[in-house]
Amino acid sequence: MSSLGKLDRQMQELRSRVDAALDAYTNFAGGCPDHLREAIRYSLLAPGKRLRPLLVLWACEACRGDLAAALPAACAVEMIHTYSLIHDDLPAMDDDNLRRGQPTCHKQFGEGIAILAGDALLALAFEVLSEDIEPADRAAVCCGVLAHAAGATELVGGQADDLAGEFFCGGLDVLESIHRRKTGAMFCAALQLGAISAGASDGERQMLDAYGKNLGLAFQIVDDLLDVNGDAAELGKNTGKDAGRGKLTFPGLFGVDESRRRAESLVVAACGAIQPLGPHAASLECLARYVLERKH
Ligand code: IPE
Ligand code: IPE
Ligand code: MG
Ligand code: MG
Ligand code: MG
Repeated sequence: MSSLGKLDRQMQELRSRVDAALDAYTNFAGGCPDHLREAIRYSLLAPGKRLRPLLVLWACEACRGDLAAALPAACAVEMIHTYSLIHDDLPAMDDDNLRRGQPTCHKQFGEGIAILAGDALLALAFEVLSEDIEPADRAAVCCGVLAHAAGATELVGGQADDLAGEFFCGGLDVLESIHRRKTGAMFCAALQLGAISAGASDGERQMLDAYGKNLGLAFQIVDDLLDVNGDAAELGKNTGKDAGRGKLTFPGLFGVDESRRRAESLVVAACGAIQPLGPHAASLECLARYVLERKH
């Protein structure tokens, strides 16, 4: 079996474990209004790639940790990511109507419930970390790392500048800084949570951080490219949105070929950063190549 074929099988197995845990976390024994629960589960359990949970689990593996100990962190990161997608799609932001192959949350449930479903997922992520990551001091570190990556200087700050970017022309510095914050920060946080769950050393955490910074930027460049030349049915989201809204993107600034070259060299750099981790980091290396080759 080719290494990508093997990766595919491992990905499916881990995705099933993550999906089962996400399902269990969102049953809400009592008190959650039915339509809110439905909206949360509609977006969270829809067929996403689960890349960030895979980063958590494979970072844990790269640092010789126990995958089961990192599963709550994998779920927490996916909750934050899904909340960010629900809000990203709102009319006040990217105003999209298709996500993960189905109508966006606000199209299905209305804007108010979509906003609240996002809010609930943001809160649930921290509840899950604080209750299910052990010991408690490790849970506290995980909460701090994830909160920082989700906050005003990282994901939310990147999204704010992405919105502003529709109205001004920036250069490479602005564009990279937007992509690193709106997308890269959550990649890095996922890797750090996996490493923390494994009790990794500072050196291991630094290597994973370098991998995450390079891969996160490569991932968003590929996302920009797929918006230009991807297939909406395969992607499960509409294409041609960025140019339509005057977004600052890599293909917009450098063209398709140069953007592709940049993504490729970032993936080479990402893989180089984790070389010292040896064979335990093989899945992360394969994942980096998958990010370049993905069609959805
Ligand atoms: C989409 O992320 C949003 C970006 C950061 C570009 P993904 O492409 O990982 O979306 P899902 O989780 O697979 O739906
Ligand atoms: C979304 O970036 C980033 C976050 C949700 C934080 P995009 O706006 O490019 O993502 P898509 O293309 O809608 O998935
Ligand atoms: Mg956006
Ligand atoms: Mg968007
Ligand atoms: Mg995009």
